[in-house]
This record gives sequence, C-alpha cells and structure tokens, in this order.
Amino acid sequence: MPPTPLHLSSRSRRTTEQPISWLIQQAVENRDLISLAAGLVDEETLPAAEVVQACEAILRDGPRARAALQYGTTQGLASLRQQLLERLRAADGLTPADHKLAASDVVLTTGSQQLLYLLGETLIDPGDLVIVEAPTYFVFQGTLRSLGARILSVPVDHDGLDVEVLAELLDRLERTGEIHRLRFIYVCDYFQNPTGRTLSLPRRQRLVELVERHSRRQRILIVEDAAYRELRYDGPDLPSIKSFDPENQYVVLAQTFSKPCAPGLKTGFGVLPRDLMEPVLLLKGNHDFGSSNLLQHVLDDLLASGAYDRHVARLRRAYRRKRDALTAALAEHFPASSGIRWTRPDGGLYVWLTFPEGTETGPSSALMRAALRENVLYVPGEFCYDGSSGPVPRHEARLSFGVASEEQLREGVARLARAAAAARAERSELAAIEL
Ligand SMILES: Cc1ncc(COP(=O)(O)O)c(C=O)c1O
Repeated sequence: MPPTPLHLSSRSRRTTEQPISWLIQQAVENRDLISLAAGLVDEETLPAAEVVQACEAILRDGPRARAALQYGTTQGLASLRQQLLERLRAADGLTPADHKLAASDVVLTTGSQQLLYLLGETLIDPGDLVIVEAPTYFVFQGTLRSLGARILSVPVDHDGLDVEVLAELLDRLERTGEIHRLRFIYVCDYFQNPTGRTLSLPRRQRLVELVERHSRRQRILIVEDAAYRELRYDGPDLPSIKSFDPENQYVVLAQTFSKPCAPGLKTGFGVLPRDLMEPVLLLKGNHDFGSSNLLQHVLDDLLASGAYDRHVARLRRAYRRKRDALTAALAEHFPASSGIRWTRPDGGLYVWLTFPEGTETGPSSALMRAALRENVLYVPGEFCYDGSSGPVPRHEARLSFGVASEEQLREGVARLARAAAAARAERSELAAIEL
C-alpha cells in the first residue's frame, strides 16, 4: 500500500531544485566531461599543507585543542572576528574613528550561503520585495524564491549594477506605495558571479545614497556579497560598499573563505548593522547555535600566521594564468566574425559569453545538446535571470576557469567551438527545411 501523503510546508512547496543540481548531475554522469560550468575551485592549489600545519598547532596544544573541540558561540570565535574586522579596515583604508564597527558586528557562518539564507529568513515575509542584479547569482535567486520573496531586477553593465535604472525603480516603488515592501538590494560587487563585472567606485557611493534617500519610513538594506574580492588579478582593489556606510546602518557585507581558501572549510562571515545582529543570531540559534568551532580555530591560525595571505597570493597567480588561458582560447576559436563576445574579468572565476541573438544556450537548446555530445558543459545564462522584470535573454552562458586546468580550459573551448558550429549547422538545416 502506498504511504499516505506527507504534508509539506508552503516554504518546502515553494522550493524547487536548484539548477546547479542539473549541472552537477551532468558532470557526475560523465567523467570525461570538461566542466566550464562548475563553481568549484582549483584543486592543485588547495592549501592542504597549510591546513595540516594549523591543525597540528591547535591540536598538539592541550588548552587550544580543548577550546577548539568544544562548542563555540553562536556568533563565532571572537579572535577570528577581531582579525576579520581589522583586515576589512586595512583593505578599505579605514581607521576605527572613520567607521562605527566592532568585532561584535561580525558573525561567522557555515559558508556565506548560510548568512544569505539567514538574512532572507530574518528580513523577508512572503510577498516582500528584493532587488537583484540581472543576471545574478542563481543559487541565491532560488533561495529568495523559496522564502517567498518577489524578485525585481536591475541590469548589470560594464560597471556593474546600473544604479540609474535602480534609481528609477526605487522612484516607481515610491509612487506605487510598494517601497515599504522592499527589504534589500542584493549585489555581488567584485567580479560578479556570473558576469565577472565589478561595481565601479562612483556607483558604490551612489548605491548607498539611494538606499538612504528611500529609507525615510523604513530602512532598506544593501546586501554586499563580496565573495570574490580577494581574488583580484589586475588593477587596484576598490573599497567595499560597506565602507560608504560609516554609521553601520545600511550595508550587510557577506564574505566567504570558500573561494580564497577552501570550500571544504565552508566558513563565511558577515558584517551587520547592529540592530540586525541579534535577530540573525536568534535564527542562527535555530539552525545550529554556532558553525564549526574547530574550523574557525583553523582559520584564525591561518590568518594570524600569514599562511592565508601567502596562499591568496599564490592563488592569484594561478587563477590569472587560467583566466588568460581561457580568454586566449576564446579569442583563438571565436573570431570577431562569429559575433560571440565575452567579458575579461579582473578577478573572480567567471567569464560571461554572449552569443548572437537567436543562438539559444538553454538546457534543451541545440547548443547544449551539441556541447554534451562534445563533453563540455557551461551554465546557461537564463538560469541567472528571474524573468519577473522583463524578457530573459536566452543567448548567454557562464564559463568558469575555477576547477579546469589550463590544458582542459583550452580543450574545453575547442569543444565548445565545435558545438557552436554544430548548433549553427543544425539551425541552418532547420531554416532550409522551413523554407
Ligand atoms: C556570489 C556567491 N555568493 C555566495 C556563495 C556561497 O559560497 P559559500 O557558502 O561556500 O561561502 C557563492 C558560491 O559559489 C557565490 O558564488
């Protein structure tokens, strides 16, 4: 007899499979596949020796070992939070007098994904509005849908989120009386996932001015996802959006150790306005009342010993070479006459490819079918749009140079070029039949 049906919560029923599952399934089912889709990091540079050393330093020292193997606090290890605060100040060129921030404004989480989820859980009731970039980080888009948020989006151009389009949207929400439903604006501001673009300095400042102006009755937040900030290969660093929020009121900064160190540590952190910290911690108490204490001790040690900075410097060199290998291969295989364009990011892990209009890249497109036959995978660009703010472009793709080796990147692009040629041939055949 079949079991009687389960009752699932409305949140569970709103939650659909993340597109990432489909991508992972393709890679798992086919070991010969070169995945230019996965957001995984480079395997050769993972800091195994450094983590062994940090673990030994902690576990061979009785009191440290006992502290690290015990439960920690919900907010996370105080010495690590202090180090993170000081590093943020140094990166942004701020003094304690410039900025009202303390280690008590920092929370450690199980990856930045947990922080993003907690922010959603703390701030969003079903039907509330969130503004994201178009295109945006597709995993968080799925999370927002699951929480019942109504998503609005603002396009990204060469300088990141178009703040003037945002200004018009905010004015419109004022006019329609919906501004009070807007909870936050989510921006991935360094080498954005998925386009690789970075929010320009003037736009950072303007973004904070805009939320201040529209926060008369109720505060609107900016969630600054700086996951890739440390992975810069060219040009000078830019100050965080958070640095334009001296009273610590409007900006939540989310960062992670997954990309610049190791995703297996699954540790992220947030810098939060003071009145947001307590509600977030209460909900984090429901999740886990604290992320892995041992891993926080390991990171505390890696930062204090200088091993972390040396590692990030090494990573930058390795990823710079990989970015160059990928973009050189694209230039070789896709001449200007192909009409295919791509971004050349100054950092991060992603290149955004734009095919000529009409060349569909979706999961059931001719291009995807040909790519899978050729054993290469990309992320269909349409996964990164919500569709609630206008038509979804169907001719874009995200390529990652994270996990593939330089040789695999070159081979992957050659395969993609063959797939594009096959898809083009299929389209012309179809067009001929239709004539
Ligand atoms: C933009 C962005 N934010 C957040 C995350 C979440 O990473 P984690 O939970 O491993 O810190 C990712 C992972 O790919 C990401 O690309």
